[in-house]
Amino acid sequence: MKKEINGKTKIIGVIGKNIENSLSPLIHNQIILKYSLNFCYIPFKVAENDLGKAIQGIKALNIKGVNITFPYKEKVIEFLDELEESARRIGAVNTIVNNKGILTGYNTDVFGFKKSLQEDGKFDIKKKKTVIFGAGGAARGVIYALLEEGIEEIYIFNRTLEKAKKIKQDFSSFFPRSCINAFSLEEENLKDKIERAHLIINTTSLGMPSKIDNTPLSDEKLFHSDLLVYDLIYRPTKTLFLRQAEMAGAKIINGLPMLVYQGIESFYLWTGFKPEGKEILEIIERNA
Ligand code: ATR
Repeated sequence: MKKEINGKTKIIGVIGKNIENSLSPLIHNQIILKYSLNFCYIPFKVAENDLGKAIQGIKALNIKGVNITFPYKEKVIEFLDELEESARRIGAVNTIVNNKGILTGYNTDVFGFKKSLQEDGKFDIKKKKTVIFGAGGAARGVIYALLEEGIEEIYIFNRTLEKAKKIKQDFSSFFPRSCINAFSLEEENLKDKIERAHLIINTTSLGMPSKIDNTPLSDEKLFHSDLLVYDLIYRPTKTLFLRQAEMAGAKIINGLPMLVYQGIESFYLWTGFKPEGKEILEIIERNA
């Protein structure tokens, strides 16, 4: 935060349902402080029934832009004026920019996820097989990123099978040669798919503070040491899912690098200013 808020301070922020544990305010206000910018980043806790009113409020209050987080990345789209092309294809928005009263939705999760896999996971996506738990807005961004980078095969496992099938259907038209398979969470072939996989990703909310003892993979014996296991959750820093993967000898990565990189990209859309990702990640790791 800038030391003094004044009449020219521009407001940015994050809208979510349970944002008490969000690190986005820390990330953005650290950037603002480090570079003495006249912005302030605020957490907005919004109930589901108020989402439309909150989005209208961005215009009324002349807020420069917001991040959108769990569980509104898909729901928010109906309240926007325009969508950037990849956000439209993905069907999920994590960033809104207010340009003179026109609200445009973007998806910077794709950039954040790719960069975290490359730089922090040291993982080359090409010709690899991936198991993904979850089929919500976060999963859509991750799957889109994997397809853009040439992943060979994706196995989506979700509690609600229909949502996984919908992703397969939606994305097949943009990536006709991609191989997406949709299963329900209880499917017996999970074992076989994990054996073949190089990467497993949790995009569900299982393991978040409200569901801290939960994990999407009920049989921890299925983890093996040839895997990179990725949890989009960053609080707690090591979910049960990641702890069990680590015990099995797998390499692990949590959601913090992705959060920082997507945040930097959002920050750039609002301010035209792009700080260096690694530098901000180090500040956040020290302060979180
Ligand atoms: P986000 O925008 O962060 O992706 P979301 O769209 O609400 O949030 O998606 C949450 C994901 O977590 C979904 O895949 C959801 O499964 P459903 O599609 O069946 O709702 C998954 N999820 C949430 N709670 C779950 C639970 N108790 N067991 C299994 N999966 C769960």
